Order: sequence, then C-alpha cells, then structure tokens
Amino acid sequence: MKKYGTLFICLWIFACQDRTKPEPVKPEVLFEVPANFPAPVYLLDQNPITEEGFTLGKTLFYDGILSRDSTIACGECHRQYFGFTHHLHDLSHGINDRTGLRNALGLQNLAWLRRFQWDGEIESLDEQPVFPIEHADEMDDTMDNVLRKLRASANYPKLFKAAYGSEEITSEKMLKALSQFMLTLVSANSRYDKYVRQESGGTLTAAELEGKALFATKGCQGCHAGELFTDQSFRNNGLPKFERTKVVYVDGRPTVQLVVDEGRFRVTGNPADRFTFRVPSLRNVEATLPYMHDGRFTTLEQVLDYYASGVQDTPNLDPIFKQADGSLGIPLTADEKAKIIAFLKTLTDTDFLKDKRFAEPPGFPVR
Ligand code: HEC
Ligand code: HEC
Repeated sequence: MKKYGTLFICLWIFACQDRTKPEPVKPEVLFEVPANFPAPVYLLDQNPITEEGFTLGKTLFYDGILSRDSTIACGECHRQYFGFTHHLHDLSHGINDRTGLRNALGLQNLAWLRRFQWDGEIESLDEQPVFPIEHADEMDDTMDNVLRKLRASANYPKLFKAAYGSEEITSEKMLKALSQFMLTLVSANSRYDKYVRQESGGTLTAAELEGKALFATKGCQGCHAGELFTDQSFRNNGLPKFERTKVVYVDGRPTVQLVVDEGRFRVTGNPADRFTFRVPSLRNVEATLPYMHDGRFTTLEQVLDYYASGVQDTPNLDPIFKQADGSLGIPLTADEKAKIIAFLKTLTDTDFLKDKRFAEPPGFPVR
C-alpha cells in the first residue's frame, strides 16, 4: 500500500460521503517518514506539525505580503507542478524583474537536509525564509516590516491564533509555520519508490532497470546517493566557468558588474571549496528544468551529453571524473544515456506534483 497518498484520498472520500462531519486531518497524514527513507534531520518534536500551523504556513508561502511591494510570494519562484522550482527561469526572477545569481532549488524532502541552498550557507530550515525575504533581488523587504504588515492585516492575527493560541505575531512563529508547510512537501511516491517498496504500480521496464544499473556502475550514485538521490556533499562536477554581467545598485545607481559564482567557497573561504555546489537531489528531475546551479542546461539529454563529453578540468574537479586514460567525464554511449534518462524519469512523483493540499490558491499570479 502506498503511504499517506492513500490515507489522504480515504479521508477525502470519507469527507465527501459525510459533509456534515468532516474527519479532521491528522498530523501523521501531513507528515510521515516514507518506509524507504532514513530518519529525518529536522527536529520535528520542536516544531510539531498541526493542521492550523500548516494552513498558516501555506497561506504565508503563497502571499506576496512577504515582499516589499507585495508582488512576489515564495510560491512565485517555487511552483508546485515543477517540483517547486521557478519553471523556465534559469536564474531566479524576483522583485522589479531583478534576476538573482542562481536557479531556484526545488522544495521537497526538506526534513532530511542538513544544509540549505546550493552552497549550504543556511543550516536550518527555520532560517531559510529570511534569506529571500531580505534579499534585494528576491523579495527585498525586512523581517521587521513583514511582521508589521502581518500584524496590521485582517486575517493573519486570526491565523496565528488558530495555530498558536494567541494573536501575537513573532518572527519565530512565522518561520516555524513556514517550516511546517515546507516539511510536509514529501516526495516519495514515484514509480521508483513503489518498485523499491514492492507496491502495486511499481513496475520498471527493462530499459529503466538497465538505466538504474548504469546509474550505479557509472558512478552517478556516488554523489546522487541513497533514497534522497544526494549525499548532500559539495562537489565540483566540472562545469565550465560561467561569468555573467549583473546589474547591481550602488548608492541607488544601476551599475554593471561581472560576477562569477564560486559556490561553497563563498561560505567557507576554503580554496578546496571553490566551484563546489551541493549535489542536488534527482527526485522529480524531469519536472525541475532548467538544470545546474545556474540553469545552464534545459534538457536531461544536455546534462548527460555534458557528463559524457563536456566536463572541464577545473581546479577541484571531483576525481570521479578523471579516467585512467586521462580523459575527463563519464564515458556513455547514446544507448546508455537514453537508459539513464529513462530511469531518472521513474523518479517523477505525480501524486506529489499534483497534490491538492500543496497547490497554489486560485488566481495566484504567475509570471
Ligand atoms: C525570487 C525567487 C525566490 C523567491 C521569491 C523565494 N525563493 Fe526560495 N530559493 C530561490 C533560489 C534561487 C534558491 C537557491 C538559492 C541559493 O542556492 O543561493 C532558493 C532556495 C530555497 C530553499 C532551499 C532549498 C534547498 O534545497 O536547500 C528553501 C527552503 C526556499 N528557497 C524557501 C523559500 C521560501 C519559504 C520563500 C518565501 C519566504 C522563498 N523561498 C522565496 C528563489 C526564490
Ligand atoms: C562527483 C559527484 C557527482 C557525480 C559522480 C555525478 N553528479 Fe550529477 N551533479 C553533481 C553536482 C555537484 C551537481 C550540481 C552542479 C552545479 O549545479 O554546479 C549535479 C547536477 C546534476 C543534474 C542536474 C540536477 C538539477 O536539478 O539541476 C543531473 C540531472 C545530474 N547531476 C545527473 C547525474 C548523472 C546521471 C550522473 C552520472 C552519469 C551524475 N549526475 C554524476 C554531482 C555529481
């Protein structure tokens, strides 16, 4: 039996049958550790997920009130159907049409992450939202001002009261509610998961199974490891350096600067971390295009072509990509690439991408 998806559907049917007495949604339905997953990292007992906390977090997530001019919600750059990424934007696109430096990461299985962002700068999910809220290229507001706006609004004091028993609005309560919503974004119901858990619907074709074997033998699994499809390490997979020009505001005047994203080095200052990025999960990768920290590839075919013949000998290139004969990358035939891609597509979790509990509200603006 598949996990909470079925439970949720049962509750939904039950509620439909007896509209006068809807069954309350139990917290374990909102968050459950999938049978094939390790133990979560997030300390759930310090922020127990309740239905009211989830509702508050979801309302905040889809509300532009968290941005300076009320135009940009979290859900703008994190769209459910695309694995909570910013669909078709290589670099994130924020307030006043400003572009950031990086491709938006998908939001899924966040309870299992030790560090956040491509460079791991943030170490707690509860702190993560402050970054986009205060970032000049994203929402460009301040936490103090956001709290002022929430306190003055018609509906938030009530939503905070429902979640926490009092109308008092603090940044801790706000951030924990956002975490409650984000923690429920668990993706573990792909065809691959059903195959691993030996559930019905868990059949992989011969080509997908060959792709799965190649994913292991060719070394992909060395980094995109385990059930999360990432070992959460910071690695350099040899991408040629990308220099970009970017408009920054110096004393309010637009100024063009050349920027290079040096990845984890930005955070640690350790030369060994130069151009390393957190290994991204490959769950729902079919839906999260474009790819890499700067969104430079649009298709999985381009990514596989890159691994086979585009890897560059940059400083700190991961040794996995240096072959004994001196060639770089992971040699792959056209047939092997196609099979690996077929396997990657078995990681698409349509139940998650279409789960109505997480959906943007009707009329949510999309750019
Ligand atoms: C303008 C686009 C934009 C907006 C608005 C935005 N994000 Fe993001 N988000 C990003 C980008 C880009 C990254 C990757 C940043 C990096 O690695 O430097 C990211 C990363 C994250 C991560 C880390 C995921 C991981 O795997 O490490 C979380 C969590 C997150 N955002 C939640 C939020 C929340 C909550 C909000 C609203 C308060 C929000 N985001 C608003 C673009 C955006
Ligand atoms: C040495 C570790 C390592 C190995 C081995 C590796 N990858 Fe990656 N992979 C990464 C890192 C790191 C990134 C992100 C790099 C960046 O954005 O700068 C990445 C990115 C990707 C992406 C883009 C995901 C996204 O959401 O942007 C795909 C797809 C991918 N790898 C598939 C593979 C496949 C298939 C293989 C085997 C042929 C493989 N990787 C081997 C470390 C690795």
